[in-house]
Amino acid sequence: MSIYLGIDIGTSGTKTLAIDAAGQILAQASASYPCRRPQPLWSEQDPEDWWRATVKTVRQVIKKAKLQRSDVRGIGLSGQMHGAVFLDKRDQVIRPAMLWNDQRTAAECEEIEQLAGGRKGLVKLVANRALTGFTAPKILWLRNHEPRNFAKTTRVLLPKDEIRRRLTGELATEVTDASGMLLLDVAKRKWSKSLLAKLELDRSLLPEVYESDEVTGRLTATVAKRLGLSTDCVVVGGAGDCAAGAIGMGVVKSGVVSTSLGTSGVLFVPSDTPKVDPEGRLHTFCHAVRGKWHMMGVTLSAAGSLDWFAQVLGKKRNFEKLVAEAANSRPGAGGLFFLPYLSGERTPHADPLARGAFIGLTLASSRSDLTRALLEGVTYSLRDCLEIAQELGVTARRIRTTGGGAKSPFWRQMQANMLGKRVARMAADEGPAFGAALLAAVGCGEYKNIVEACGATIQIVDECTPHAPTKRFYDRAMPIYQQLYQSLRGDFQAMAEL
Ligand code: XUL
Repeated sequence: MSIYLGIDIGTSGTKTLAIDAAGQILAQASASYPCRRPQPLWSEQDPEDWWRATVKTVRQVIKKAKLQRSDVRGIGLSGQMHGAVFLDKRDQVIRPAMLWNDQRTAAECEEIEQLAGGRKGLVKLVANRALTGFTAPKILWLRNHEPRNFAKTTRVLLPKDEIRRRLTGELATEVTDASGMLLLDVAKRKWSKSLLAKLELDRSLLPEVYESDEVTGRLTATVAKRLGLSTDCVVVGGAGDCAAGAIGMGVVKSGVVSTSLGTSGVLFVPSDTPKVDPEGRLHTFCHAVRGKWHMMGVTLSAAGSLDWFAQVLGKKRNFEKLVAEAANSRPGAGGLFFLPYLSGERTPHADPLARGAFIGLTLASSRSDLTRALLEGVTYSLRDCLEIAQELGVTARRIRTTGGGAKSPFWRQMQANMLGKRVARMAADEGPAFGAALLAAVGCGEYKNIVEACGATIQIVDECTPHAPTKRFYDRAMPIYQQLYQSLRGDFQAMAEL
């Protein structure tokens, strides 16, 4: 048997699944862990939690699928992007990992743009502007605020790459996740020596960069024994969760784009060249397909906004019930808008101080209206990203969607209506872990390349078509949504200074 595992080190938990050579899912398991917010704007996790969840879920999957030690030929890793794990010279973790949704590094972003000769200079070197979530600002934050910890740091790894180190003993990353460190020359797919020099960071802080389907190492004997696997089992590069999720949906060629409604919301647009937004509103990263890139917009609180709302209303009221209720309200929720900036925003505003808001409440506003406005606010935010991509000349003919939020037919139809495209869901809607497992299959020679692997394993199950009158309604409402941030931006700043 040839079996491949995909392991996704997510923000709320780790998900592991096993596929056979035809891409059939044999078993899956997940384990959750907390995210700590010790100070406003901070967001941290303990890499030990990721490791415990990895071991637990891999063992569960092997047991559930009744796999033999030698069945598993390869593992693909995926994970939350941008997080910084700081290691000392004995490869011990120095402090909790700072995550992608941590917003403490506004000053360091300015510092980086200044050292790089301005925003344009930075975009020229690494294809992206400095954003608080990215990794390089976190490294500078450590240097500025915890100099003792910085002095001890010999290596900085991304979340999934810390798990790779524990699995294989190798210090490695791959092009998609490395792109989000803000230290990669994205066009050339290698570290930017020039930016490292400008920031006075040593190249030795960073691991080797591989392509996503390349083998980066094999399981160590101790780990293989603990997991019930063989030391012949390889670990391929894998991909950051956005690119791995896109692979898992077959979003590998230009024209088909994807959206993801997880904690964060992502619009992912494949491209044949490293196309760059000169203003840096969309990110330009390497794709997990060799010789391809992608542009991406990220709204930080997507299904995360719904999660927050469900908690505020009391735990009993679950997602499905809430979304079902939203269907009782009408498009526009009676003139009610929601700004989904609960943890600041990345695309298109790059504003860590932006805040969430319901605007337009009246005595007639019901819970259904509030929920509907919330779902619409998140979807307007995806449309904000799509509008920028289209402005840059990218073609987006169809959309494939994934993530917890995409399970709801109501929210999928809302996406089709608001984005004005057909929105499809895939048969194996298992997110990044599935894409990571496919990358492992390619790395082990099961398929010639990732495009062939996607063609052989991925199917559409369900497609929504935009409803023209509702689309026209959203076209009229969109400028109001966009204006609200502009009107409130100064107030958000004042609130932060209170
Ligand atoms: C991507 C990003 C998020 C995280 C969340 O740039 O920050 O999607 O990867 O998992």
